[in-house]
Amino acid sequence: MTILVTGGAGFIGSNFVLDWLATCSEPVVNLDKLTYAGNLENLAELEGNPRHIFVQGDIGDTALVESLMREHQPRAVLNFAAESHVDRSIHGPEAFIQTNIVGTFRLLEAVRSWWGQLPADGKVRFRFLHVSTDEVYGSLEKTAPAFTESHSYEPNSPYSASKASSDHLVRAYHHTYGLPVLTTNCSNNYGPYHFPEKLIPLVIVNALSGKPLPVYGDGQQIRDWLYVKDHCAAIRRVLEAGVCGETYNVGGWNEKANLDIVTEVCALLDELRPREDGVHYRMQITHVPDRPGHDRRYAIDARKIERELHWRPAETFATGIRKTVQWYLDHPQWVANVQSGSYRDWVAQNYEGRPA
Ligand code: NAD
Ligand code: TYD
Repeated sequence: MTILVTGGAGFIGSNFVLDWLATCSEPVVNLDKLTYAGNLENLAELEGNPRHIFVQGDIGDTALVESLMREHQPRAVLNFAAESHVDRSIHGPEAFIQTNIVGTFRLLEAVRSWWGQLPADGKVRFRFLHVSTDEVYGSLEKTAPAFTESHSYEPNSPYSASKASSDHLVRAYHHTYGLPVLTTNCSNNYGPYHFPEKLIPLVIVNALSGKPLPVYGDGQQIRDWLYVKDHCAAIRRVLEAGVCGETYNVGGWNEKANLDIVTEVCALLDELRPREDGVHYRMQITHVPDRPGHDRRYAIDARKIERELHWRPAETFATGIRKTVQWYLDHPQWVANVQSGSYRDWVAQNYEGRPA
């Protein structure tokens, strides 16, 4: 038995592949285009491991996906591959349409054509698991109940609209063709190997190099935060026991305002790596103009996955964020290596060019 993972060199995908190979004997075929967000250094410990087969390529390359399916006969395809950063989707939505919509469509088509030729029992056993986000549900008022799986789709950014579109395609392939699909909609992840364009790693990296900690607008936007390894465990559980055609919300029961997140990270850094001049890291916080169309609040009701599949996060925010900050302190070379020329270009584009 083998599984095929797409986007397994990115943040969540690489954590998933590492955890999978550490906890089970089944090989992984890892298909990743290696965009700016894909990083083989995340998978360095798997070098020489015959159970990890890395293939550089695009989920939209039908011939490649079809040949991988024929060659490896995976019992499941797990689709992590995506353009994933909201701010980048505002600056350049095209790549989001290409990968998240067209790419997912082509991946579904390639998988469907291979799956259609399987014997009846192979057809029934096969799974296509699509990894999605809570952002497809749109923004919540402060006191509104958290998103359940039946909340309407109201995406507001090019990123969330493209993910919503991919979720709809996955759903349609189940209803129309009977493809055995599962979809997970998860809240904001944090943890090791998180690319420092996203809030938590950006704050850690900027704090340590004495740079401003940019908080968009008033910093009172609320997100639910989940430690990445808990997300990976939830995906393994859904793959194992989820009901085909169903969607599962995954969350950390941990709603926090951005400013509180930044302040907590600063306090941990004060404890674990105090500034030489004794000044608190929170003094580096800088309010910058808000993100256009910024969703005010996301909150996940994760009772269905708990009730039906008995999954709950193992980490609290306090334990998960401590592990995360410590990981960044322990991996300065990883951080230095991802801060390439294209990373610096992005920082200049996103932070220096913000309209007041
Ligand atoms: P990421 O940006 O860190 O990684 C994405 C990976 O996909 C990269 O390795 C990249 O090279 C690869 N990729 C991009 N386009 C590709 C293509 N056309 N073909 C093959 N590979 C391609 O993203 P992430 O944070 O690890 O997110 C993974 C998935 O989880 C995404 O689908 C995202 O929407 C979803 N998700 C993320 C979060 C979060 O907080 N990061 C939360 C919920 C859901
Ligand atoms: P981000 O990590 O980009 O994830 P998402 O937009 O998918 O939720 O951002 C998390 C929150 O932090 C979001 O409300 C935007 C905010 N944010 C900042 O305030 N400053 C920053 O520099 C970044 C990158 C994000």
